[in-house]
Formats: sequence, structure tokens, C-alpha cells
Amino acid sequence: MIDERRERLTKLHAVVDACRRCPIGGTRTKVVCGVGDPAARLVIVGEGPGESEDRQGEPFVGRAGELLTRMLAAIGLRREDVFITNTIKCRATSDESGRIANRAPMQEEMANCRQYLDEELAIVRPRIILALGAPAAKSFLGPGFSITRQRGMWFKGPGGADLMATYHPAYILRLTGGNMTAVKKLVWADLQAVRHKLDEVEQEQAPPITPQADAELKLDL
Ligand code: URA
Repeated sequence: MIDERRERLTKLHAVVDACRRCPIGGTRTKVVCGVGDPAARLVIVGEGPGESEDRQGEPFVGRAGELLTRMLAAIGLRREDVFITNTIKCRATSDESGRIANRAPMQEEMANCRQYLDEELAIVRPRIILALGAPAAKSFLGPGFSITRQRGMWFKGPGGADLMATYHPAYILRLTGGNMTAVKKLVWADLQAVRHKLDEVEQEQAPPITPQADAELKLDL
């Protein structure tokens, strides 16, 4: 099953690699598709690749990615335990007098790329989706979504997955002092809720304890 999903993701990667629907398809260095466990119960969706991701062809490998890796570790997960992807697969840039800078994805770019994100989710079929930042959250929940008022709440996402949004790690990195501490606390609470949901999902899928196994467990005590 995992091999079949991996194969489908590889095929999708080749399709995205050939995509030139947006001008940024021509300016990117590498296309950045999702990575991780093809059968992950948790999928993390960010906004779009930055400079490091564009260079390496892998999501969340820059500073925000380092923080994301630490956030996952705080709830007992390694990057390879989850599937990490973005709403767009090419680096969105603007040329500011010869200096290439990151910019937020345009609506049109997100719409053009949506099919690839949907396909990734249809292949991985996660039970939980964590959207990082307002653009990723809005791409699932609509333009009326407010990250300050609605982060940490559960919604229904694609394929019936439970979906939550929290602040983007890049946003946390831009904050200082008390503001950073306050936002980190909120994100920590959100991550714990995700961990809790994941534990519930894993328990649901664990084989039921037979009376025999139950007796053995008791003997072990
Ligand atoms: N920020 C994102 O939203 N995605 C990445 O892959 C890297 C940084």
C-alpha cells in the first residue's frame, strides 16, 4: 500500500515538474512537492517554498523548517512520520530592482496549484491536516477565516480529515520578546491538541485487545 502511494506521488511529482501554468514555473530552481510518509495520518500544509526550499527541492528546510522540525519533535514526531507539503509548489518571487525576494502566493497561483495539493491529499489520505499560517488555512476554509480568532479550532477538511490551523513558524521567527512568548504558548497548545487527536486516531486503528492478550498483559504487571 505504501509502495503504491509512493509511486503515485513520484508520478505526480513528474507532472508538477513539467507544469508551467504560472510564470513562477519558469523562474523556480526546483519544484517543491510534499515529502514524508506517503501513508501519514498527519499532513502539514505550509504556504509555499522559500529560497532554501527552491534550491533543495524540499519543503521546510530553511529556518522556518528548522523550527517546524522542533515543533514536531516537541509532540514526539519526526519529519518522516508526517507528510509535509505546501499550497503552491514553486517559489513565489518578485524582482525588486535585481534583488529576488519572496512574496505571498497570488490567488491565481494557489488556484492553479490546488489540483496538485488535492492530489497529494487524495493519495496520502490523512486523518488530520495542520495548516500553517493564514494563506494555507484560507485555502481550505475560505477567505473569511481569521487566524487570530479561529486558530486551534477543529474543522472538517478534504477527505473528511480533521483540520486545524495554527501560526506559521516563519511568523513566530519574526516576533520578539513577549509577543513571541505569547504566540509560542498558543502554538504549543495547538500542537498538543494535534497530538491528542493523533493518539485518538491511532487508538481507533489499533487492533482490539483479545482476552488472551489482556491476560498476558496482566501477567506482565
Ligand atoms: N514556508 C512555507 O510555507 N513552506 C516552506 O516550504 C518553507 C517555508
